[in-house]
Amino acid sequence: MIPISKPDIGPAEEAAVLEVLRSGMLAMGTRTKAFEEAWASYCGVKHAVMMANGTVAQEAVLHGLGIGEGDEVITVSFSFNATVSVILRAGARPVFVDIREDDFNMDPAQVEAAITPRTRAIMPVHLYGLMADMAPLEDIARRHGLVIVEDAAQAHGAAYRGRKAGQFGPAMFSLYATKNLMTGEGGFATTDDDDVADRIRLFRNHGMRVRYYHESLGTNYKPGDLAAALGLAQLTRLDERTEQRRRNAAFLTAELSEDYLTPTVPEGRDHVWHQYVMRFPGERQRVIDGLTERGVGTLIYYPVPIHKQAYLQAYVPGAADLDLPVTNRLSDEVLAIPVHPKLSQDDLATIVRSVREVATPVAR
Ligand SMILES: Cc1ncc(COP(=O)(O)O)c(C=O)c1O
Repeated sequence: MIPISKPDIGPAEEAAVLEVLRSGMLAMGTRTKAFEEAWASYCGVKHAVMMANGTVAQEAVLHGLGIGEGDEVITVSFSFNATVSVILRAGARPVFVDIREDDFNMDPAQVEAAITPRTRAIMPVHLYGLMADMAPLEDIARRHGLVIVEDAAQAHGAAYRGRKAGQFGPAMFSLYATKNLMTGEGGFATTDDDDVADRIRLFRNHGMRVRYYHESLGTNYKPGDLAAALGLAQLTRLDERTEQRRRNAAFLTAELSEDYLTPTVPEGRDHVWHQYVMRFPGERQRVIDGLTERGVGTLIYYPVPIHKQAYLQAYVPGAADLDLPVTNRLSDEVLAIPVHPKLSQDDLATIVRSVREVATPVAR
């Protein structure tokens, strides 16, 4: 089976983890600090705070911004559930806008109509490794005095007009095992704001600056140095792996775009291809079955949009009936095929051949 994702763990990762193991210092320490400095520098931001996972990193970002009870955050439903659960767990209300068909991301044209006196933030998701259309979002945020919070869980190193993810406002990156940069479980909160960073760090460690003196209510969202050591080793090869993803995506697009609905990259955006997501209207299950038979792994990101999830209805009454036509349609059509850097040329040829064998060419 050609898997949909495959972690690339080599001797450098093994050596880095072994060194921490042998040091006997497993809790958050020097490796975490080094990884945080390296990530902040990579993203071109002032602060990176590593945490146990991306979800809690985003909760800490909202806490750092003081977003909570009575506030609204404008976001999308076409994402992983954590995009929205963090808003709810902060006590705030998610307000959904639809996505655009060309980039699967927040449609800036719909944001202004969703703003109310309670709106505090706009949270775009850079889905699949492609940044949202940030220029109009920045313009709206500036005019309405709102903060942009980036869900960059899938967008390590992605850029918009030369500015990397993380440079548009406080952001979160996931380091989950399948991500372009991974530590098994882990996440980063990033920000240029010293005060926000300070509140995030305090929140991460029991509200404690001096050991056993707790100046604010916090919790334990700390990572361990084993994960940080793994991440540091991964980071040295992130750009190389991203380039391989780009070459793989370019091959798939060159081979398939004439006859199938392949992903597009709008002008000015550097895609990092966390996922290569095609659309198979009306025949997705047939395509999944056919590709599985031929040994090609696939995954639906995501089969049920967040506004239709069962639990959400109690928090946002009537959410399932919201008018989000593009989100609803694409949720029924999208399918990720493998694009990760461990694919061989043979794998890529098998993927292309298999898609051609099972999927119906679209009429143009
Ligand atoms: C878009 C998006 N947001 C949030 C998250 C949450 O990150 P984590 O799994 O590290 O908690 C993920 C990760 O799967 C994600 O893909």
